Parts: sequence; structure tokens; C-alpha cells
Amino acid sequence: MTSNKLALFPSSTAVNHQNHVTINGHDVVELTQQFGTPLYVYDVETIHQQITSYRQALANYSGSTQLTYASKAFLCTALVQLMSSEEVGLDVASAGEIFIARQGGADPASLHLHGNNKTSFDLKEALQAGVGRIVVDNIHELDRLAEMAAERNQSANIWLRITPDVAVETVHAYTVTGTADSKFGFPLDQAEAVAQKLLADKNSLVKLKGLHLHLGSHFHDASPVARALGRLLDLATKLRDEANWSFSELCAGGGWGVRYHPDDPPMPIEPFVSGLITAVEQGCRKRDLSLPQLILEPGRSLVAQAGVALYTVGGRKVIPGVRTYVSVDGGLADNPRPALYEAKYTALLANRATEPEPETVAIAGPFCESGDILIQAVDLPVACPGDIVAVPVAGAYQLSMSSNYNAALKPAVIFIEGSEIKLVQRRETFEDLVRRDVL
Ligand SMILES: Cc1ncc(COP(=O)(O)O)c(C=O)c1O
Repeated sequence: MTSNKLALFPSSTAVNHQNHVTINGHDVVELTQQFGTPLYVYDVETIHQQITSYRQALANYSGSTQLTYASKAFLCTALVQLMSSEEVGLDVASAGEIFIARQGGADPASLHLHGNNKTSFDLKEALQAGVGRIVVDNIHELDRLAEMAAERNQSANIWLRITPDVAVETVHAYTVTGTADSKFGFPLDQAEAVAQKLLADKNSLVKLKGLHLHLGSHFHDASPVARALGRLLDLATKLRDEANWSFSELCAGGGWGVRYHPDDPPMPIEPFVSGLITAVEQGCRKRDLSLPQLILEPGRSLVAQAGVALYTVGGRKVIPGVRTYVSVDGGLADNPRPALYEAKYTALLANRATEPEPETVAIAGPFCESGDILIQAVDLPVACPGDIVAVPVAGAYQLSMSSNYNAALKPAVIFIEGSEIKLVQRRETFEDLVRRDVL
């Protein structure tokens, strides 16, 4: 049913008299004629709405709060500008992401640098830029950072990333990060020892401001995060009691899931955030801790629904009794998630939006991998060459994970901002493909 599928698109999505999908009144079929395919379209209003939902939910916290966007979900300078205009900070995970954030005009103090193996270069760039918080992941990084801070005679404000050994249920093991067997972060006992040592060194230029956790991505139940926050509050209490630490910042990471498919449950933001708020407020009261600033760093739930990927059908292959493949002009290179995580999507024909959908087909990309299947099974009208396939919920971890496999050109990105259409990333050109080559 197309109406169920349309509910997954940006909130301003409708169907016009030509039976074409429109976003904020813009005919997406016309956009594909103007900009070509594959094309990624973001409805900026949907991102603003998600930010507002987080903000309204966070307003119920009795202490101060900060909303930070996990820019690994999708980053370009126009998005940095959007986030900055909303005073949303940025979680960055490399010197490259610091660079893009700064190109977009982000306030360096609003950046948090993550990464389980930050290089000296990453750390140097962070110090030089004046990144607000460095989220230290392991002892080697802490030693390196302390050395660099001393050499530069510059203080560095840090959080420790804690791996609290709490599992969240996500759709794939690769998106779980908070269990004991994780490459990320300090186990609790190590974190305690490291923090004690750091706090004992009154001359250190590395200043421990807070604790951080991130349990995984695309989970649907917030209760494990609440439990894990309790473990961090236990650690903060010990450090207060034994090292006189004044605990002032607590980051609960991101990870809240989104609806990708009509069968998925609704994913309102308020109950997720209020579960975290209750855990922190009650946990602090129980331990007689003063309330820290509460920081959240969602990625997917801020931008996924805003994005729509548009592809052109090139052909179909009918294998009687087996399957029908509808081939489109993008796939693995612009969206590796189905191959990487068996991610499930839906789609409709943007130029025949409400037609009956009598056949179940697989949507295949053009790349030289049998795993280049965007969707294993979706109901569609009988799709013909030239039809436009629209895949909703395409805004997160698609373009940011895209590649040039088979020398694919990375797609153009359009922002729809009310009546305005803005090309925010041009399609790559052949020249881009050889730009780094040395003859
Ligand atoms: C440290 C950290 N914070 C936040 C996020 C954002 O997660 P999500 O996009 O699922 O909200 C991620 C991504 O996995 C992450 O690694």
C-alpha cells in the first residue's frame, strides 16, 4: 500500500495530479529530470522538526542539556550550517570531519571528537582547532594527548568513553558498541583507575569534565541505556567520594532507531529521551550527586527520515518461479547498508505513486556484486525502464558510507527548504575520479 509507504517519507510529502511524489510541493520526478539520478533529496523542514522534538523532550530535564548531531550519519557543509543555525553541536570522528565542520562554519567549541584510534594528527588538529571535548577512548590516547597538551602548554577538556558492558538490541551485531567485547572505550574498572590517576595529577593539562557512553545504533528500547547510565553514575560517585571529582557532564550517546519499513513500529523521540532523563535524575538523587549537564548525540534519528534516494529503472529480469529483478542506477556504492547490515528498506515508483502494486520484486543495483541488492522484496507496479524508484528514510549512513566502487560517481544532494531548491553537493565528475592519481 503506497499510503503506508508515504508515511515514511518527509512529513511534507504528497502526491500531485500527475501521480508524482512531491516534497514540500516540489515534484521529485522533475528534480530527477533537472539533476539526474541517483539523486538524494533532503527535506530540511523534517530535520528541523526532529531537532525540535529532541529539544522539547530535553526541556523536561531539571539540569542543563546539550544536543549534538553525530555527523557520521551524513555530513556536508550545508548541513553543518543548518545544525549551527539551530545551535546543535557536532560529534566528529576524525580530523576530516573536523575539517568539514570548520568549512561549514561550526564553532569549534561545539565539537566533540570521537574515535577508538585517534591518530596524533587527529589530536593535533583537535587541539589546534579548539575542539570543545575530546572523548578519550583508551589509555594510549590519553598518554598521547597529555604529552601533546604539555608540549603545546594547552589544556584539553575530555570525557572518558565508557563501555559499560550493556547490550542493546539492534538489527545487526555490527551496530552494537557497549558490550564487553567491543573495540570502543574503557571497561568500567579501567576507567576508574585511569580517572583516579588523572585526577590525582593536579598539574595535568588534561581536564576530566565528564563521562560518555554510546551503546549502539538503531535500537528500539531505551531501557538498556538507562541501566548503563546507572553504571556511569556509580563511577562518578566513586570518583567524587575518593578523588573529590566534581562530575559536571554526562553524554548518553545516540542510537535511537527510526522506521525504515511500514512494518516497523513508530519511533517517537519523547519516550526515549524521557527514559534517559528519569534514569539520570533518579540515579543522581539516589547517589546524592548534583545533576550533570545531559548531552545527547543522535545521528540517524535527526536526518534519516529527511532523506529520499531517487533512482531510474534501467531494466527488469523475470526468472519465472524464482524472482523478478528491477535494476536501477544506484545501490551498493551510494547505500552499502543492505550489504553490510542486511538493512531493510521499502520503495515506491515516484512517477506512478498510487498505482496498484501487483508484483513483488527485488531492486538491484548496477554494481559487480551479487550482494548489490537494495531491497530483497518490495511490492511495486510493473516497473519499466525510465520509471523513478524512490527509497524513503535514506538520509543517514548512506552517502556518508558511499564509495566509488566500479568508478561510480557520488550522487548530487539537494536540500528542499520551503519553496527553495538548493544543490548542496554536485554530482561527482569523471575528473573527480582521477583527481588524486599521480602520473
Ligand atoms: C559515539 C557515537 N555517538 C553517536 C552515534 C550516533 O548514533 P545514531 O546515528 O544511531 O543516533 C554514533 C554512531 O554509531 C557513535 O558512534
